[in-house]
Amino acid sequence: MLKILGICGSPKKGATEYLLKESLKPFEGREDIQVEYIFLKGKKISPCTACDYCRKNKAPCIIKDDMNELLEKFLTADAFVIASPVYAYGATPQIHAFFSRMRPIFHLAPTTLRDKFGVAMAVGGRRNGGQETVVSSIHNLMMSRGINIISNECGGYAGAYLWSKDQKEIGAAEDEYAMDQGKLLVNKLVDMMQRFNKD
Ligand SMILES: Cc1cc2nc3c(=O)[nH]c(=O)nc-3n(C[C@H](O)[C@H](O)[C@H](O)COP(=O)(O)O)c2cc1C
Repeated sequence: MLKILGICGSPKKGATEYLLKESLKPFEGREDIQVEYIFLKGKKISPCTACDYCRKNKAPCIIKDDMNELLEKFLTADAFVIASPVYAYGATPQIHAFFSRMRPIFHLAPTTLRDKFGVAMAVGGRRNGGQETVVSSIHNLMMSRGINIISNECGGYAGAYLWSKDQKEIGAAEDEYAMDQGKLLVNKLVDMMQRFNKD
């Protein structure tokens, strides 16, 4: 059973959540695949303060908030679909806080994520508002934890880039090309995971 985890970096229920869920929908309810989600909306995740507790004590993060539970879920997944809105030409602070709190992985078990794969999606209010930059940024965040990156199909380039026109689900649904690219991206991720996990 392959476990795919969709992670939505938006603090709102909007275009990003819609793109993520629609892209994963074809794989829900299958016997060989389990789809789960983490929605950062409403979660309390303080950014890493570089207190060095994890490094000095070889111990999990000392900050007590929602991250401990989310990290447990994260570590049990085989593959990640990470989607973020574009905020000020970057991924959201929620996404950055989430990844900054994974520092204990490096000090406790640095190879934990070496056989996991991930893809990235970005949603901007403007047509060229920084979606490509955000996909690259999510790739870099995943690479910082040793996760292997899967690109989109030839012609789709690095990930899925959606233009929401700041219209949440309605705007997302109108960008049919991006919605298709999201599905192709997840489809390729699943295909690669299945080949990788073949005996
Ligand atoms: C603080 C903030 C910064 C934003 N910066 C950008 C930006 O740099 N480029 C862009 O295209 N859209 C930007 N937007 C618009 C959002 O990316 C857009 O509305 C997106 O659909 C939000 O995702 P959601 O619908 O999932 O909440 C910004 C929105 C906010 C709230």
